[in-house]
Amino acid sequence: MLDLNDKVTWVGKIDWDLRRFHGDEYSTHRGSSYNSYLIRDQKTVLIDTVWTPFAKEFIANLKKTIDLKKIDYIIMNHSEVDHSGALPELMKLIPDTPICCTANGAKLLKAHYHADWKMIEVKTGDTLDLGENKLYFVEARMLHWPDSMMSYLTGESILFSNDAFGQHYASEHMYNDKVDSAELYQEALKYYANILTPFSSLVVKKIDELLSLNLPISMICPSHGVIWRENPIQIVNHYMKWAKGYQENQVTILYDTMWNATRTMAEAIAAGIKEKDQDVTIKLFNCANTDKNDILAEIFKSTMVVMGSSTINRGILSALAAILEMTKGLGFKAKKAAVFGSYGWSGEATKVISEGLSASGFEVVNEGLKLLWVPDEEGIDQCRAFGNELAEKI
Ligand code: FEO
Repeated sequence: MLDLNDKVTWVGKIDWDLRRFHGDEYSTHRGSSYNSYLIRDQKTVLIDTVWTPFAKEFIANLKKTIDLKKIDYIIMNHSEVDHSGALPELMKLIPDTPICCTANGAKLLKAHYHADWKMIEVKTGDTLDLGENKLYFVEARMLHWPDSMMSYLTGESILFSNDAFGQHYASEHMYNDKVDSAELYQEALKYYANILTPFSSLVVKKIDELLSLNLPISMICPSHGVIWRENPIQIVNHYMKWAKGYQENQVTILYDTMWNATRTMAEAIAAGIKEKDQDVTIKLFNCANTDKNDILAEIFKSTMVVMGSSTINRGILSALAAILEMTKGLGFKAKKAAVFGSYGWSGEATKVISEGLSASGFEVVNEGLKLLWVPDEEGIDQCRAFGNELAEKI
């Protein structure tokens, strides 16, 4: 439990153990938290709950903070199980408590739990009078689910943003000004890159809408990670920047290799780029032994992505194939790309990667470079020349 002020208490769960989220789709090297908040005004409101495995612990702790029967409303900003997972246990104890959510939220909660809970459907502009303060609701459809919404507490000027502005980052400190700012930035960017990239145009619209309301904001309380207390608008500004085709002066070289020939090519290409451009940051990753979500965050930051694979069974190696598939879904914008790879006889890999990148919206800048078997001195020179050429196109 953590009192944010005399009205709002954090009643969530810090999950230090979490290393995989969304099944195996998102790595959480620094754990996460499921943030739930209790507002005590003349009315008492619980905002969101926690993931299912922590339901009993959550309720036991909540009981130490408040008599559950005093909870007048539950606000479900989002029905995904990491926030709604404790509802079934909680509703066994307070079955008549109304749940406020969007119309889509009501449908999704029903589809998940098949229960006849009392729902109050809210939409943007609706308010819930708590006594001294009000909760003002803002729908945030497809940020990142159809049901997503945010709730703003007037008076205290707190935005409960749910997944938006979150990070998978466990910390007992719970405030942005008390944690390592570089770690926090890294986790917030990784979260945006891996979850919100496909919805960037909606992010811009939603932030414009929020800013046009001219609401004072003292804190932004997301549903994962730490609370933005010091200069909370910084994360809003980061989101705006990330949503508008964010790029750093970075080239990311991704490869998958069977016997190191393609790795040798990757390193020679990197050297070739560096010969022509001393300023650009070049990062190399072997997809087979690098975390896929970390790679996607690096792609997000890059101006150019260079992908290589050996040819296997007329296709590409599986770790790079997974990255290519995820890249397609995320829909990165305004990035250049090039391809390379070693082959033994048929040599389809470069074509497969090139087609995949084009289909994902990358601008593939040339035909790519494929070399037979293991590159010799002449092959290394070709790779360096290829890198020189890419440097001109960054
Ligand atoms: Fe944190 Fe979309 O759930």
